[in-house]
Amino acid sequence: MSIHAHEALTLIKLANEARRHAYAPYSNYPVGAALRTKTGRIFTGVNVESAAYPTTMCAERIAIYKAVSEGEREFEVTAVVTPNGGSPCGGCRQVMAEFGLETIVLIGDGQGRLLQQTTVKDLLPGAFTPDHLKP
Ligand code: THU
Repeated sequence: MSIHAHEALTLIKLANEARRHAYAPYSNYPVGAALRTKTGRIFTGVNVESAAYPTTMCAERIAIYKAVSEGEREFEVTAVVTPNGGSPCGGCRQVMAEFGLETIVLIGDGQGRLLQQTTVKDLLPGAFTPDHLKP
């Protein structure tokens, strides 16, 4: 499965614009995410930091949690934009894997450039998934 270059750039743009609302006073590393569900809805997310550092939440997870909390569980593509093209953290990879290994992941930078197109499966080889809990 692949997506059109036009949509990829649109999602990168949305994720980049979302960074405006990132709350990152400690790291000064604003991250934005934008995902499209299989039903065609778009959800964005930003990182929200905390003075108690470990309670910080990443942009990708916030976008996923927003979508799940509104009844969506199937994601075609998730774009993540960091200032310098940083890759999704391990925790976010695990949460992405929960909702499907085939989801396309786009990684971009603060200039709105698309740097990498990959999949959850490639980002988290050997993932522990809901299937492992089936009897
Ligand atoms: N961050 C994300 O939002 N997503 C990632 O995948 C990597 C890290 C955030 C967490 C923290 O607010 C800041 O970037 C620096 O780690």
